[in-house]
Formats: sequence, structure tokens, C-alpha cells
Amino acid sequence: MLKNRGINKVLYGGDYNPEQWDERTRDKDMILLDKAGIDIVTLNVFAWAMIQPSENVYDFSDLDSIVKRVTDKGMKICMATSTAAYPAWMARKYPDILRVDYQGRKKKFGARHNACPNSETYRKFAPLLAGKLAEHFKDCDSIVVWHINNEYSGSCYCENCERAFRGWLKGKYGSLDELNRAWNSPFWSHVFYDWDEIVAPNELSEYQGGEKSQFPGLALDYARFMSDSILQNYKDERDAIKSVIPDAVCTTNMMNLFKGLDYRKWAKEIDIASWDNYPQRFTAPFYDSFAHELIRGLKGGKPFMLMEQSPSVTNWMSVNSLKRPGEMRRYSYEAMAHGADTLMFFQMRQSPAGTEMYHGAVIDHSGREDTRTFKECSLFGEELKKIGDLTLSGKAPSECAIIFDWPTWWAIEDIGGISENFKYPDEILNYYRAFYELNIPVDIIGSDDDISGYRIVIAPSFYMVHKGDRERFEDFVRNGGTLVFTYYSGYVDENAHILKGGYPGELRELIGARIEESDCLYENMDRFFFFVWTPPHIEDTSNSFTYKGKDYPAKKVCDIMHAEKAEVLSEFREDFYKGSPAITKNSLDKGNVYYAATGSVPEFYGKFIMDLCVEAGVKDCLGNEPEDEGEWSGLEISLRVNDKGKMYYYINHSDQAKNVMIPFDCSDILKGEKIGKGDMAEILPGDVRLLFVKM
Ligand code: GLA
Ligand code: ZN
Repeated sequence: MLKNRGINKVLYGGDYNPEQWDERTRDKDMILLDKAGIDIVTLNVFAWAMIQPSENVYDFSDLDSIVKRVTDKGMKICMATSTAAYPAWMARKYPDILRVDYQGRKKKFGARHNACPNSETYRKFAPLLAGKLAEHFKDCDSIVVWHINNEYSGSCYCENCERAFRGWLKGKYGSLDELNRAWNSPFWSHVFYDWDEIVAPNELSEYQGGEKSQFPGLALDYARFMSDSILQNYKDERDAIKSVIPDAVCTTNMMNLFKGLDYRKWAKEIDIASWDNYPQRFTAPFYDSFAHELIRGLKGGKPFMLMEQSPSVTNWMSVNSLKRPGEMRRYSYEAMAHGADTLMFFQMRQSPAGTEMYHGAVIDHSGREDTRTFKECSLFGEELKKIGDLTLSGKAPSECAIIFDWPTWWAIEDIGGISENFKYPDEILNYYRAFYELNIPVDIIGSDDDISGYRIVIAPSFYMVHKGDRERFEDFVRNGGTLVFTYYSGYVDENAHILKGGYPGELRELIGARIEESDCLYENMDRFFFFVWTPPHIEDTSNSFTYKGKDYPAKKVCDIMHAEKAEVLSEFREDFYKGSPAITKNSLDKGNVYYAATGSVPEFYGKFIMDLCVEAGVKDCLGNEPEDEGEWSGLEISLRVNDKGKMYYYINHSDQAKNVMIPFDCSDILKGEKIGKGDMAEILPGDVRLLFVKM
């Protein structure tokens, strides 16, 4: 949690980069930000070159004056370490800091988020700066959190990294024999006899096309290694800060479904999770809320910081639409409903020039306070003051969970044979959406998280089975849990070796069925394939299945299964595997294991999840048995509970007013009125109502 220095509300603010402006503008900013209700600013995100103009000179004077200004205004500070963009002099003097890309090209100075994570230079200077900042600001009480680097991302394939990779592999495997075994290297004669023969993956080495690798064992380990290397950069800085300020709260801003970094492993090293939310104009509300849940789940359900969002517009999307009136507020409440304890923008004032000069900000180029965005930000700032601590630190209680695993994501998408139409996060999102639209709270958890407290656990495409999974799953089910696997489950172990005895390996008893083959379905395919001439457009191939008397299309993949002990709830209706199970159910003591052998459409996921919840006694967040409304109404209802009470968020994502019966006595916090149990309440299009039930 944030260092609790008198924090009794959701903190409101964001990135402030006054390095670009004169004193008068800075003074004016203080007045305007105060008017907007801003009470936290993130400072020093990109100031390395100004703080360290040359190798042995550190100059904190400008930062001191900024810190003093905001502290005098009573604002809190999220202090960044500035290490996401290194100074030009450093790149010139120490070129080992420059990355080499997957195409083998050495980069030049000029961008950001681009240091080679295994560069000696970077590993020396970045923590040195973090430590100096900590020393300099150790007595500054307004700093409530340290923001290390910024949006860590990308990868490097240079010689530093190649050498470090060999060291990492030695640590992991101990011997070349073990490594050759793990990578099944006799295949294509890829056996290594000397560590120095191992090269980093690269377009000139193992690249197959798309996201596929011709050396998947090596590629999977490189993905793990790169995530670990960059994490080491974070740890270097964190340790430097904590050696001066042992109770410093450290974080780094993450990015939702970001494939490159195993955020779950990272989460163990950070004190509070934080992330940057940039929905596009037509992003579905469930997608956004999924991202919040993913981040919240990283720290066992604890609240997180929404570190960045745009108050109005971005500069980097293909079409940079303005957020519509009310949209920033609605997205903000959605973040809060799913666990955000800070709501922060990128950024406070629009840049006067540069690649981000058209990016939205609380204060725009005109510097006025009567703009649409400024007014919306100020009104929202007022609302946050009204809400105070009523929802702060609150948890969303949940009896259901969905497993999401980064190494599975890497392994399943980099191997030939798995459909290119299949994207691992999509299947996770399909299931998430069903819970979301039924207003049933659901946690997103890792494959090694404790599941014993849940009633329902969904393991979509649980492709990679880790040591101990089977035992944990079995205990969970025998004790009454409902476990759902979906197609492509139980294929490989942690080294991406096929499980013994074919799919689903050691999960076979649990599932009560075995899988023989998987049929990938064509969908929107316009292309030529390897060696074989195919027409320029290929008709979609399809299958379907009947579930509870209704037909649903099968999508992406159909696992062709043989039920052993499992009951067959549904069968495929077409093709040569007509009659083979599409959904099975296996009962084990007090619990059940389901296997959905294919993907489908939202109507199916909604119905399936609703049935599972009814069977398992899971209620929606209002305490009702879930009801299938057919198409989603657009009204999200979410709940956060803290020791003060329960906060129900009614968020109307649609353009129609909603009239709902409120099943409890409560206070509408924003309107300041009481609502009685059984009263009707109207939620206007795009509007949000916060209904609070005191403990
Ligand atoms: C990211 C970065 C910020 C800024 C914004 C713009 O989230 O962290 O520095 O570039 O994008 O949307
Ligand atoms: Zn490198």
C-alpha cells in the first residue's frame, strides 16, 4: 500500500513534466491543478539527462524546486527514477547500452524504453541514479511511492544479452546434458557441446514467421530470460532505493496484457501494482475491467494504482479520437470499482512540442481552465473528495477465478501446429466477459496461486501443466470445487515437452477423458500457405455443437476427445468427428471437472458460466442467482467492500437510461440522497451511481 501519510481518499493526479516550462507556467500550474482537485503528481519520469548532464555531475536543483512547489501546495509525490530514457552522452560514450533488435540491427540514440538490460553501463548508472535520488529525498515526506523506470518493455538480442543468456541457462540447467534434454535438441541436430555455441534467438537464426519459432525450447527460455533480465533492472533500482529508505513503497507501471514480461513473477518484487490504461474509442467495457482484474490479481487482490490514463486523447493510436464527454469519468469509476486506489493521468500539462504534443492533458495548450477537459477533470476531482475513504483499500469479494499464465502464453503461440487464429488471451477474455456481463466478481489468478478458497476455477487452454498442478486441482475438486478446462489443455510440461501418454497427460483421470487430435478451423483467412497453393480467400470452416437444447458455433479449435469416465454433455454436430464430445463433465467426490473442447460465441459462454454458477451456488454481486438476459444490457454492477461498508458501482456503459430496483437501503454518495430497499433508481446513459451500504 501507499505510505499512508494522511491519505484518506483516492489520490488524483498524474505525470507532471515541468522540465519543459518556465517558472511562470509552473506557478500557474500549481493554481490550476489545485482547482482541478489534483493531490498527487508523478515527477521526474524523463529527466535523466538534466539531472546527470555528464558522467560525474548530478544536479538536483531544478527537481528540488519542483518538489518544493508541489509540497507547498500539499500534494503528494510519486517519485520516478528517470531511468527509462538515458542521456545521449551515455549512449555515445558507452554504446553497450544500445539494444540490438530481433533483426540484428544495433539501435542508435533517440527513443526511450530502449536500454540493453544486460549492459554493464545501464546496470551501473540506473541504480546509481535511483540511489542518489533516494539519498537526496529521503526526508521528503510528500513522497508516498517510488515509480521505477517507466513501462518496461521490449527485448534485446545483443552480445551482452547472449552472454548473459548462457549464464542464465547454466543457472537453470546446470549441465549441457540437462539443457539438451529440456530442449529436445537431437531434433534437427541442435545438440550443444559447448555453452558458447548457444546463440540468442533472432530473425537470422530460429525465426519461422509470425510469432513462431523453429527452436521453441530456446525461444521459450529466451522469453523467460528477457523478462528476468529486465526484472533484474527493476530490482537493481529498487534495492538501491531501499538501502537508503527501507520502507519505501516501490512500483513500476505495467501495461495490461503485455506479452513480453511475466508480470506475475514481477509482482513478487513490487510493493503495489500499478498500470496504464489506454482504452480506444471502441474498446469494450469488459476488456478494460479485465485488465484491472488482471493487475489487481497480481498482488493477491490488493488495490492497485491506476498510474496513467488520458483525460481526453492520445497521440499514438492509429485514430486518436477524443474521449467523449463523461467517458473519462466512467472509465475512472470502472477502474475504481475493480480496485484502483489512485486515478492518475498522463498528463498534467500538454507538451509544447515533441512526439506527444497532441496527447491530451488536464491543462491543454491554451492553458485555460474553461476547456471541456479541464472542467470535466475538476468536476471529477470534486466527486473524489466527496467519496473520501468510503471505498479506499476495499476488496471485491470473489468466489470464482480464471487462470492466466505468461509462460503458457509464450509457449502456445510460438510453436507451429497450433492455430494462428488462436490467441491465448482471447479465450481468457471470452470466459471473463461471461462473468462480467452477469455481474459476478471473478479474480484473475496465476497458475500457482492458491485456489482452495474458490467455488469455480476456469483454466482456459491450460496448455502447460506445471509440477504439482494435478494434485492441487484434484484436492480442489474433491473438496467441492468446479474446475473447467478448455481446448488445448494438458498438452505440455514446463519445458514444452508433450506430456506422457498423450493429451491431457496427467490431467486425464481428472478430466475423465483423453484427447486424440485437435482440428483447427479456418476463420477470415486471406493468404497463401507454405508450399501449397490455396485460393486467395478461404471460406471459413465450421463446426457446431448443441448445449442444453441450443446450437452454438464451434470456433478456433475442436479437440477430438474420447470420454472415459466423463459424462458427455454435448457433441460436435459436423464433419468426420460428428458425435465426439464437445463438452464433458467428470464428477470427483464433491466436485466436478468440465472440459469444453472448443471455443464459441458470447451467448454460449454466458449460458455455460451461468449454469456453472447456479450449480455451484455462486451469486452475482447483488446476492442474486445469475440470470441470463440474452444480450448484455450495458449496465455493469460491481462491488468493493472495506471496513466502512459496501460500495456498489452502477456503471451504465450504454446509451440508454437504465431503471433498476435497488435491493438494499443505501446512500447515493454522489447525489447525497438516501435510497430505500425496493426503490427504483435511474442510471442515465454513460452515467455512474455509487451506492453505499454502511457496515
Ligand atoms: C505511456 C507512457 C507515457 C506516455 C503515454 C502516452 O503510457 O508511460 O510516458 O508516453 O504512454 O499515452
Ligand atoms: Zn542486450
